Amino acid sequence: MAILVNDNKIFTLNTKNTTYQMYVNEDGILFHSYYGAKMEYSDLSYASHKNGWMASFSANPKGKRYSHNHTSEELSCFGVGDFRLSALALVNHDGTIGAEPVYHSHKVVKGKYQIKGLPAFYGDEGETLVITLKDKAYDVYFHMYYGVLEEYDLITRAMVVENKTDSEIKLNKALSMSLDLVSGSYDMIHFHGAHMRERQLERTRITHLTSTVSSVRGASSHMQNPFVIVCDKGANEEYGSAYGIGLVYSGNFVISAEKDQHETTRIVAGINPECFEYTVFPNDTFETPEVALVYSNEGFGKLSNNYHKAIRNNLCRGKYKYTRRPVLINNWEATYFDFNADKLVSMANDASALGVELFVMDDGWFGHRDDDHTSLGDWFVNEKKLQGSLENLVKRINSLGMQFGIWFEPECISEDSELFRAHPDYRFAIPNRDPQESRQQYVLDMSRKEVRDNIYDQMVKVLESANITYLKWDFNRHITDLYSVALPKERQGEIYHRYMLGVYELLERITQKFPDILFESCSGGGGRFDMGMLYYMPQVWTSDDSDAIDRLKIQYGTSFAYPVRTMGAHVSVCPNHGNARVTPLKTRGNVAYFGTYGLELDITKMTSEEKQEIKRQIAEFKEYYDLIQFGDYYRLLSPFTPEESRYCAWETVKADGSEALVCTVAYESKCTVPPELLKVKGLIPNKMYRINDSEEKYLGSALMNIGFWLDYDHVSYPSRLYHITLA
Ligand code: GLA
Repeated sequence: MAILVNDNKIFTLNTKNTTYQMYVNEDGILFHSYYGAKMEYSDLSYASHKNGWMASFSANPKGKRYSHNHTSEELSCFGVGDFRLSALALVNHDGTIGAEPVYHSHKVVKGKYQIKGLPAFYGDEGETLVITLKDKAYDVYFHMYYGVLEEYDLITRAMVVENKTDSEIKLNKALSMSLDLVSGSYDMIHFHGAHMRERQLERTRITHLTSTVSSVRGASSHMQNPFVIVCDKGANEEYGSAYGIGLVYSGNFVISAEKDQHETTRIVAGINPECFEYTVFPNDTFETPEVALVYSNEGFGKLSNNYHKAIRNNLCRGKYKYTRRPVLINNWEATYFDFNADKLVSMANDASALGVELFVMDDGWFGHRDDDHTSLGDWFVNEKKLQGSLENLVKRINSLGMQFGIWFEPECISEDSELFRAHPDYRFAIPNRDPQESRQQYVLDMSRKEVRDNIYDQMVKVLESANITYLKWDFNRHITDLYSVALPKERQGEIYHRYMLGVYELLERITQKFPDILFESCSGGGGRFDMGMLYYMPQVWTSDDSDAIDRLKIQYGTSFAYPVRTMGAHVSVCPNHGNARVTPLKTRGNVAYFGTYGLELDITKMTSEEKQEIKRQIAEFKEYYDLIQFGDYYRLLSPFTPEESRYCAWETVKADGSEALVCTVAYESKCTVPPELLKVKGLIPNKMYRINDSEEKYLGSALMNIGFWLDYDHVSYPSRLYHITLA
C-alpha cells in the first residue's frame, strides 16, 4: 500500500524511495509534517511546528494551539493569519475574504485520479488519496487530491474547490499546492530562455526574497518553463536532496519559493493569479491543474530519470507511446514558404532513398499563404501551390514508400483570411482598442466552443481528405488583448484559463478522432514544452534553433524534466540559418539522435557524400533506437560549466547495465588541451566491457570511477559516440 491512513488521521504517502506525511490536529487543520527520503512508519507531526517565542504568538484571540502564520498547512490560505505565500485567495458570497479549511472526510482510491478537462498523469497501478476540507464558516469544500506512482517516486497534487453555498464565490488565486520545507537552506534551479534559446539552466539561492518563475503569456512560454528543482546547496547530478516541481499545465503559471521569518522554505505552484479571477457558481467546482513532485536524495540524475520514466509511461498516450516513430524530413528550413508539389516530391524522393520514412509539409500549404502575413484560420488546401489536391500530393509521397505529415496552427488567425472576414469577433481584441499584432497574426478565442468547432471541422476535413499520419500543432505568438465577447465583464479574469481548457478540449477531440496520427507540439520552437502538452502530443519541437552547439544547452536543460523521446531534434544545413555556425554533419546527427532525429534541410542540394552520411546516420539511429529512447539517461558533462571541461557529454544505459551509449561534443577549440578521462554511470561494477568493440576490456567500476580516455579529433566541434557493451 502506497497510502497509509491511521486512526489519528496521519496520512502517509510512500513511494519506492520517498515519504510524504500529513496529519489532522485537534482543531481539524491539515498540517504538513514531512516530505523527503523514505522512512519507516512513525508519527512525524512534531516536525511541522516551530517552537520559540515567535511560535507562541497566536493570531487567534481565544489562544488556540496554532497560528496559521507559524505552521505548515497543506492548504495555505490568504486572509486568515498566514502572511506568507499562499495557495488560495477566496472571496465568499457575502464579500468576505478568506477561508479556514478544516478536515471533513477522506478516502483512498485505487488508481491514479484524473482531473476534469485537464491533463494529468494516469495509471491503474497508482493510488489516490482525497482529503476533503471544509471551510469553518461556509459550505465551501476543498478536495485535496494526492496521487502516488510508487515506482517513479512521483507524488502529484491537485485541488478541487466545490461551492455548496447557494450563491457564487470568487477565486482570486487557486494554486495546485503549497509545500513547506521546515528545515534546510535551498537553491532553486530553473530553466529560462527566449525564442531559439529555450531552457537555459540558472541556479539561485532561495532567500527571504521571493524567487518566482512564471508566465503571463497565455502559454508556458520560452521565457520560463513550468518546472523547477529545489535542492540542497551542494546537490549535483549524483548527490544531495532535490525536489522536482513540475506543472502539468500549458498556460499562465507561477512557481514561487521563499524563506519565511522562521527559516521555513515555502514553495507554491499553480495557475498564475495575475489576471485570474474565477467565479464558482453554486453546486459547481473549480479544478486546479496538477503538480508533479519527485524527490531524490541522490541528486538530479535520479530525479530526472524518474520524471523521464513517469512521463514516458504514465503521461504520454496513444499509438506512439512505445512504438518507433518514423524518421522524418520537414521542409521548413529547406523551402520556408517557397514550394510547390513537385519541389516537395523531389525532396521526398531523395529522402526516401536514404531511409527517411515520413515527409512533413510545414507552413504555407493553405489559403493563399506565401508569407506569414496571411491565411491562418483558412485550413483549406492551396491547390494552385500544391498543383492539385492534397490527396494527390500525398499519393505521390506514399508511392515513394513514405508517410505524409502536415502543419497546422489551429489557435491563430490572420486578418487577411476568410475566417476573419466572416467572424471578426473570433480573435481576442479589446473593444475600442487596436489589438497587438505579433508575427502578423492574432489569437483565436479558444474559450468559445463555436470557435473550436469551426477549427475542428476544418481540420477534420483536411485530415480525412488524404492519408495523413503526422501533425505538427504550432502556436507562434502569445496572448494579448484578452477580452472575450462570450463572458460578462466581471468574468473576464477566467479567460486565460478557459483558453487553455478550450485548447485541451480541442486537442482531446482531434487526437481521439485520429488515433493513428503522430502529433508533435510546437510553439515557435519550444515555447510550450511542458507536461500538459505531452499528455496530448508525445513529442515537442524543442527549439527553432537547430544549431548543434546551441542545442547542447537547450537539450541538456530540457532533459532535467523531459525525456529524450519527447524532444524534436533535426539535422539542418550549415552555415546554420539561425547563427551561421558551421559544424560537422556527424556532430549534427549525434546531437539529433538524442531526441527524435529527423532532417530539416533541402536534401536535393546535398552532395552524394553528405547523402551517404545521412544514410549512415539513419541506419545508426535505428540501431540504437531502443537504447536511446528507453534507456536510463545520465548527464555527464554540462555545457553550462565550460570551466570544468570543453566537452558536453551524456549517456543512455540499458536498465540492466549491460549496454550504454555515450555521446560527447567538444564545444570549445583550443590549441593545447589536456587529455580527458570521462566517467560513465549505470554499468555493472564487476563486469568487463568493451568500447566500440575495442580490443581492450574495462571493468565496469573502473569506467564509472576512473573513466575512459576521450578521443581527440582535429576539427571544429567534433563529436563521438562510444558504444559500451559487455565483453
Ligand atoms: C514555427 C515553428 C517552425 C515552423 C514555423 C512555420 O516557428 O517552430 O518549425 O513550423 O513556425 O511558420
